[in-house]
Amino acid sequence: VVKVKGKIKNLKFKEEGKKLFNWAKASMPVLSNTEPEFVKERPFEGKTIGCCLHVTKETAVLVLLLKAGGANVFLCGSNPLSTNDSIAAYLVSEGINVYAWEGMTSTEYDDAIEWVSDKHLNFVLDDGGDLTVKLNKRKSQEQIQDILLGTEETTTGLIRERALLNEGSLKFPIVAVNDAMTKHFFDNRYGTGQSCMDGIMRATSLLFAGKTIVVAGYGWCGRGIALRARGLGAKVAVTEVDEVKALEAVMDGFVALPMEKAIKQADLVITATGNVNVVGKNEIKKAKNGCILANAGHFDVEIDVKYLNNFPSTEVRKGVTEFNLGNKKIYLLAEGRLVNLSCAEGHPPEVMDMSFANQAYVLRWATELKEKIKPGIYPVPEKIDRKVAVKKLSSIGVEIDKLTKKQKKYLSSWEP
Ligand SMILES: NC(=O)c1ccc[n+]([C@@H]2O[C@H](COP(=O)([O-])OP(=O)(O)OC[C@H]3O[C@@H](n4cnc5c(N)ncnc54)[C@H](O)[C@@H]3O)[C@@H](O)[C@H]2O)c1
Repeated sequence: VVKVKGKIKNLKFKEEGKKLFNWAKASMPVLSNTEPEFVKERPFEGKTIGCCLHVTKETAVLVLLLKAGGANVFLCGSNPLSTNDSIAAYLVSEGINVYAWEGMTSTEYDDAIEWVSDKHLNFVLDDGGDLTVKLNKRKSQEQIQDILLGTEETTTGLIRERALLNEGSLKFPIVAVNDAMTKHFFDNRYGTGQSCMDGIMRATSLLFAGKTIVVAGYGWCGRGIALRARGLGAKVAVTEVDEVKALEAVMDGFVALPMEKAIKQADLVITATGNVNVVGKNEIKKAKNGCILANAGHFDVEIDVKYLNNFPSTEVRKGVTEFNLGNKKIYLLAEGRLVNLSCAEGHPPEVMDMSFANQAYVLRWATELKEKIKPGIYPVPEKIDRKVAVKKLSSIGVEIDKLTKKQKKYLSSWEP
């Protein structure tokens, strides 16, 4: 019997958490249908898995699946504002070790990561790289020697882990789950697109139709956000630093222009670049009165919150801070942190079903390997990526064609 440890807000929220969990699970058929296999095979028997993930109802479906597969799971949040306290309570009641609550301070957030990192882990599931960086930079070889593999859920985490690799300090292998086709084509694009609109609407209750909205970054997240903002009737402009992405935005029918110019007209700016200071002091100075700033990138560095904090501020609604800059008011959502996870519930379960199926299948694959993999960043094996697509299609009742022998031959031949 595993004794559950950790720190959460209150165990009494567990019944509410159970309802949310059941709701998500019903819309996550790929993961749910894997449960009987994991229960039978117990691939993670005797393994300790450390997770630094947003503590949401969808994450609950993943970690309870890992537990059903025999794992002892330690979970902390991957953002101080994104934990659902009722989910944390439900997970603890189900035997998951959780150290997370909504509204942690930066020190408490760091304590939580420290707590997971001390557990002599065999697998590491990370979203953003905070746990991986801690393990590689702050822990002794003895503390990390049993780690077989890590996985990374998001773009920013992979940037940081590739930086660790390049400086020679990555000490265990990482599988880039974010880069799987069945992850970023759907999660980053449709998940972020929809849940950002949801977060902004819940926080502000304002109308999108007719508004001028600027989306910074036309990567996977940015294009999803731009698409959904346009669908709600907004006039959408895009800012980019990549010439090809900017061209794509233009040919997709958006206006592309530099942030300095774009922000003058903007009613709402949404950043999704994974970069720092995208809406900096100079841009904020040019924003019009009443402009709302929101971020969808992993860290709270895309909007210059430090600059805004020089001005008197009030929380005018939950998650909405009004800054009085003298000549105008600027509104910041969720302290500049991930707006979809802080002001709404993060991605819909249907997309997390695919992202997390990649996570679960990669871990099972790792338990079947004969040799330890060397430190490095590895893609999700294509077989797993395609298996997730096949299972998802079948779960939603979609059939597709199969290549005939003749077609296969034609596609591998030089003959016309
Ligand atoms: N909110 C969420 O739930 C969620 C989900 C997935 C990813 N993310 C995070 O969102 C961020 C973006 O992820 P992605 O997968 O779209 O990455 P991506 O690499 O596909 O796209 C980022 C884009 O931003 C552009 N960019 C960089 N600096 C810029 C600048 N100064 N101005 C304008 N554009 C700039 C890049 O050229 C690129 O096209 C990352 O931090 C990622 O971790 C968030």
